[in-house]
Order: sequence, then structure tokens, then C-alpha cells
Amino acid sequence: MTSALFSPIRLAELDLVNRIVVSPMCQYSADDGVGNDWHLNHLGTLSNSGAALVVIEATGIERRGRITHGCLGLYSDDCQAALAHMIAHCRRYGTAKLGIQLAHAGRKASAQRPWEGAQPLKSGDDPWETIAPSAIPFGPGWPTPREMSSADMERARDGFVAAARRAIRAGIDAIELHGAHGYLLHSFLSPISNKRSDEYGGSPDGRMRFPLEVAEAVRAVVPKSMPLGARITGNDWVEGGLTPADAVSFASALKNVGIDFVCISSGGIIAEARPNMVANINVGFAEEVKRKAGIPTRAVGLIATPKRAQAIVAEGRADMVALARAMLDNPHWGWHAAKVLGAEVARPKQYQRAAPNLWAGAMFQD
Ligand SMILES: Cc1cc2nc3c(=O)[nH]c(=O)nc-3n(C[C@H](O)[C@H](O)[C@H](O)COP(=O)(O)O)c2cc1C
Repeated sequence: MTSALFSPIRLAELDLVNRIVVSPMCQYSADDGVGNDWHLNHLGTLSNSGAALVVIEATGIERRGRITHGCLGLYSDDCQAALAHMIAHCRRYGTAKLGIQLAHAGRKASAQRPWEGAQPLKSGDDPWETIAPSAIPFGPGWPTPREMSSADMERARDGFVAAARRAIRAGIDAIELHGAHGYLLHSFLSPISNKRSDEYGGSPDGRMRFPLEVAEAVRAVVPKSMPLGARITGNDWVEGGLTPADAVSFASALKNVGIDFVCISSGGIIAEARPNMVANINVGFAEEVKRKAGIPTRAVGLIATPKRAQAIVAEGRADMVALARAMLDNPHWGWHAAKVLGAEVARPKQYQRAAPNLWAGAMFQD
């Protein structure tokens, strides 16, 4: 039996053995941006999940671009050395290729970790000044960010480029830019958070200008052979915000500057937006982007079961699927999906005796 989910795909010159991706997941556990044993454990486990690609969490391209004090960064030699160690560890013990999501949190930076409340840092907690396209807070109780000057934009753009260079030096296989969830690049795109009157605001072209400049600058330093993608928003879920049609325009523009794939997520532009959390929440948006922009597309959001994931790829609604919470719940999700769908998946030799053909399902007899 052939499985669409377990069929290979090539992005730029990177061959992925199947269409399953571990979605980037912040761990809020780094020390001044530097990864540690937690990351080795987390990523090492997920690199044996059966997914072809594991995307490392949103990684701040500058110190003030982290969401929390615990977020990974890629702005120092120590950050880079820790990333190189994580990648080497995953390659040695796991089967997945490794990607990284480069991010700047913009007006959502300087926040508490989720288990501390996910609110803005208080005065005694070493908060920092946040920056954004316009001086509009993320929500009630959030600090007003400083409107970015052209020097701030240049610094952020250069920061993305420098972080991409560091990721390449650390041995990464793929890079993606975080253009969703209300963080800096998304906040330039959305009319909800971008009220600028210069050439970086106003019309859709104006609002796209800065994120596209970043994508173009990063593309210039990432070898053509290495996939460079972007996570973008399919819907702001806010009256007057971005819609699936905007996602199609942005994905088309990204394709024109040489971006190899997009991942369609949604939400996060304001604190009050509450999307309707239903299965396959972003798949319709991904399908529209794939069809109209003609760029390899990944869907994410409540794609928790093998049959659901398989159907999305088999029906051509997206080229890949990314899973987050289901992977945390079951870090061998891909192995179980292979069993359900009758497909093959690589396991480390130490775990090969868990392959279904070696115990013929006898464990489930009663
Ligand atoms: C613990 C956790 C951390 C996350 N961190 C990130 C992140 O770093 N970057 C990102 O784009 N999305 C992040 N997300 C969102 C997921 O990547 C994913 O888009 C979302 O959880 C929906 O997928 P799911 O239903 O499979 O969990 C995070 C989600 C979780 C649960």
C-alpha cells in the first residue's frame, strides 16, 4: 500500500522522506538565548518521531526579539555553538532533517513564560522596550511598543541575515521565517497593527514591503540548495484584518523573491482574537494558497490523527502537514501513523524490535 503522507518530497535540494513535519515549538528554557540539555532531550526525542523534518522553535534574531527570557536566540557565538551541538546530537541519534524558525517577537516580546502567566514582564522582571511598525499595544495591559525607525528596520533585517548565516554555520538543513502569530513580520503585514504613513504601511504592497525585504535579504545568503520558507497567517480572525486572499498575495510575493515553501497558520495579531478551534483549522487557507500561489504549502493546526493528515496530502490540499501538540503527546507519532497507514518509517537500530512486523501485533491481543 502506498501512502501519500509517507511519500517523499523535495524542497530546493533537500529530500524529505515523508510529508510529516514537527511544528516549531517554543520551550522557554534557554539561558540568554542559549540552548541546553532540555533542548537536546526535546529535539533528540522528536528527531525520532518518524517526521521527515523537525523545525526548531522560534529563535530570536536579536536579544530584544525573543518572546521571553527563556526563548532560544541566535545572536551570539554561544547561541550558535549550542545550536551546532543540538543539530549534531539530533543527527547522531535521530532520523529527521533539522530546520529552524527565525523570529522577532516585535510588540509581543518581553513577556512571561506561559507557565508564569504569559503576560507582559513586570518592572522587577527585567523587561525590555518592544518595537513594532506602529505604537499600538498588543492588547489591554501590554506596553506600547516604540514605532520602528528606518535604523530599527535595518537592524532587524540585518539580524535575520546574521542569524541565517549562523544557522547555516551550525549545520541546519532548512530555514523558515516567522511571519505569523502577531510577531514582528506579521505585525507589518496586518492593517490591525500597521498604521504607518510611510512606504512601509498603508496599501497591501506597503505593508508587505518590510517582510519581503527581510525575505529577500535572507535569501541572498541562504544557498539555493537549502530550502528557505516562511510561516504566514491565513486569517487574522479579526474584522478588518488579514484574510485568506491576503495570504495568497503574500505567498505569491514570497515565491517571487525565491522562497521555497510556506506554512499556513492563523491568529495571534491581537490578544482578544479567539479563533474557532476546529480540526484542520487552517487547511482551507493552505489549500487556497497552494492552488492560487502555486508554492509548496504546509498546513498546521489540529491535524492530530494519521487519517486526517493522510487525507490532506492525498487530496492535494497541502503538500506537507505540521503537528505540534500531538507530537508532544506522542513523540513517536510518525511510527504509529506508519502502522495505521501501512507505511515504512525509519527507526534507530536500538528500537528496531518495536517495528510491527517483528511482533506481529501480538502485544494487542487482549
Ligand atoms: C508548546 C508550543 C510552542 C509553540 N511555539 C511555536 C513557535 O515557536 N513558533 C510557531 O510558529 N508556532 C509555535 N506554536 C504553534 C505550533 O507550531 C502550531 O502551529 C499550533 O500548536 C497548532 O498545531 P497543533 O494543533 O498541531 O498543536 C507552539 C505551540 C505549542 C503547543
